[in-house]
Order: sequence, then C-alpha cells, then structure tokens
Amino acid sequence: MEISCSQDIASEGCFSLGMLAEFYCTLEEVGPWFYPRLFWKCGMIGQVLYLEAEAAGLRGTGIGCYFDDPMHDLLGLKGTLYQDLYHFTVGGAVEDKRLATMPAYSHELIQRYNRGC
Ligand SMILES: Cc1cc2nc3c(=O)[nH]c(=O)nc-3n(C[C@H](O)[C@H](O)[C@H](O)COP(=O)(O)O)c2cc1C
Repeated sequence: MEISCSQDIASEGCFSLGMLAEFYCTLEEVGPWFYPRLFWKCGMIGQVLYLEAEAAGLRGTGIGCYFDDPMHDLLGLKGTLYQDLYHFTVGGAVEDKRLATMPAYSHELIQRYNRGC
C-alpha cells in the first residue's frame, strides 16, 4: 500500500499489481523512441484488466501514483534492467458519492430522449 502512495485502493481490494518492463536492453536495442510504447503496452494490459474485472463482477482501476524505487527494492531489482511502469488494482467497487456515475452510453440515451424517441 505504501508503494502506491498509501492509497486504500491498493490494499483493500482483491489484488493489486505492478507492471515491469524489460527496460535498459529494450531501449538500447530499439532506441529511446520506444519509451512511450512501453507505457502503451502497460495500458493495453490495463484495459484488459478493466474489462476482465467488470466481466467477473468486480471493478479495476489503474494506479499512476506509486513509488518505483521502493518497488524495485522490494523485488531485489538493481539498476535499470527492469522498470516499474504502471500499477493496477482489482476489487469490489466503493461508490464515490462526490462523482456522478452514469450507465455506459448514457449520452446516447439522453440524445434519443431529447429527440423525442
Ligand atoms: C493511467 C491511470 C492511472 C490512474 N491512477 C490512479 C491513482 O493513482 N489513484 C486513483 O485513485 N485512481 C487512479 N486512476 C483512476 C482514475 O482516477 C479514474 O479512472 C477516474 O477517476 C475515473 O473517472 P471517470 O469515471 O470520469 O473516467 C488512474 C487511472 C488511469 C487510467
């Protein structure tokens, strides 16, 4: 939990995880332009986790606030061979009453309603 900026979402759910990229060798071989692509890959995995969590009746969310160096220390990783690039958590939903939550595609329903359909 501390590694994820002490956020409850990282400890109160079913599980949370960190995504590690093969960092140094990839950038050395492919070039620095690939750096954002590593985040894209993490994002793709995150999107699958969002969908699978929903399909299992749970919820998931990305965690962008985390401390990479303590995560590397925890795993015994030294140097830049691997880099922690994204965290994710899955669990039961707690509704945030401060936010308006609407069903998916609700804007289409509102448009149809406004057209009188
Ligand atoms: C890349 C990424 C990083 C995120 N990091 C955090 C985070 O560190 N802490 C958190 O509470 N939510 C985090 N979230 C969740 C977003 O805050 C959440 O998706 C947003 O509040 C939902 O708003 P929406 O319903 O308007 O899409 C993250 C989401 C993404 C996609």
